[in-house]
Amino acid sequence: MTEILPSILSADFARLGEQVASLEQAGCRVLHVDIMDGHFVPNLTIGPPVVASLRKATPLTLDVHLMITDPDRYAPLFIDAGANHVSVHQEACPNLDRTLKMIQGLGALAGVVINPATPVATLDEVLGFVDYVLVMSVNPGFGGQKFIPYTLDKVRQLAAKRRERSLHFAIEIDGGVTLENVGEMVKAGVDWVVAGSAIFGAGNPADAFKKMRQHAHSAGMVQV
Ligand code: DX5
Ligand code: ZN
Repeated sequence: MTEILPSILSADFARLGEQVASLEQAGCRVLHVDIMDGHFVPNLTIGPPVVASLRKATPLTLDVHLMITDPDRYAPLFIDAGANHVSVHQEACPNLDRTLKMIQGLGALAGVVINPATPVATLDEVLGFVDYVLVMSVNPGFGGQKFIPYTLDKVRQLAAKRRERSLHFAIEIDGGVTLENVGEMVKAGVDWVVAGSAIFGAGNPADAFKKMRQHAHSAGMVQV
C-alpha cells in the first residue's frame, strides 16, 4: 500500500507540533524531514535538535533526507536524535557502500537518493542491500517546484530491476507531487510519496493528506 509522507519543509514551524498531531490523527505514519546545509543545496533548514524535539512529540516514523555534503559525519547524529530512516545522496558519497552500511549498522533504514540528472545505473551495486531508493523529481533545495516528468522513467527502471532481481527496496519520490500527478507515480511503481506544499500549503493539511492518500490508493487499485 502506498504511503504518503508529508514533508515538514513546508510546515508552519511555529505550529509544527500541532500540525504533526493533526496528520497523525488523519492516519499519517511517516514524516519526511529535509536537512539542507547550504553547500550541497543552496538552502538551509534544520539540524539534529529539531529532530530530537519531533521524536519526543510524535511516535511517527521519521524519514530524514540528508541534502548535505558530509553525510558520514552527520548521519549518526540524526540517528541518535531519533531518525528511523536516513537517506544520503549518491552525488555526495564517494564511499556509498560504506555510508549505507554505517547507517544500517546504527539501526536505521538506509536510503540512497539520486538527483534528476543522475542515472539509475549508478546504483546497480547497492540495490541488493539498500532499504530504499529516493528518486528526486525536482532539483533538491526548495519546496514548491514543478515536477520533472522524465524522472518517472527512472522509477520504472528501478521497479523493473527490483522485479528482475527479486529485490525488496522501497521506491520513494520527492518533489512536485500534486493531486493531479500522484496517480501516475503510483502506477510507475512508487511506494512512498513525499508531498510538501501540496499538503502544508493547503488550508487544512490533514484533509489534504487524506485526499492525496485516497488518490494514491485508487491509482494503486487499478495497477496492472
Ligand atoms: C526538496 C525537498 C522536498 C520538498 C518537496 O528539495 O527534498 O522534500 O519538501 O516539496 P514539494 O512537495 O513542495 O515539491
Ligand atoms: Zn526531501
